[in-house]
Amino acid sequence: MSADSRDIAIGAYDELKERERIVLDIDGVSIGVYFIAGEIRAWHNVCPHLGGPVCQGKIVPRTLQGVDEATRKSRGLQLSQDEKMLVCPWHGFEFDILNGRHAIDDRHRLKAVPVRVEAGQVVVTL
Ligand code: FES
Repeated sequence: MSADSRDIAIGAYDELKERERIVLDIDGVSIGVYFIAGEIRAWHNVCPHLGGPVCQGKIVPRTLQGVDEATRKSRGLQLSQDEKMLVCPWHGFEFDILNGRHAIDDRHRLKAVPVRVEAGQVVVTL
């Protein structure tokens, strides 16, 4: 963290946690804050592909390719009950909301914004 970084309270956790996502502009820096499965994550709203507004993309369940253990044959596509993906609106790259990684290409990752709950407030560090 740089000496120039600062903490910014963005609202009460109890109110914000009811929302899946909020996208904020703080002094010209756009970020997305996500409340997923009891976890909080914040990401810069800049897609690592070509800079699209990734945080405004659709939130979808991760698509899984099920494989039958015995026959090793595909059981077809299934939707994850746990994992949520963020789909960049420009070219459709999908990122895991909790870890920021691209669905299949680990070279592409969202840039994290430190976020925590302190005294009942959600606080980001920019
Ligand atoms: S800019 Fe996000 S997928 Fe291309």
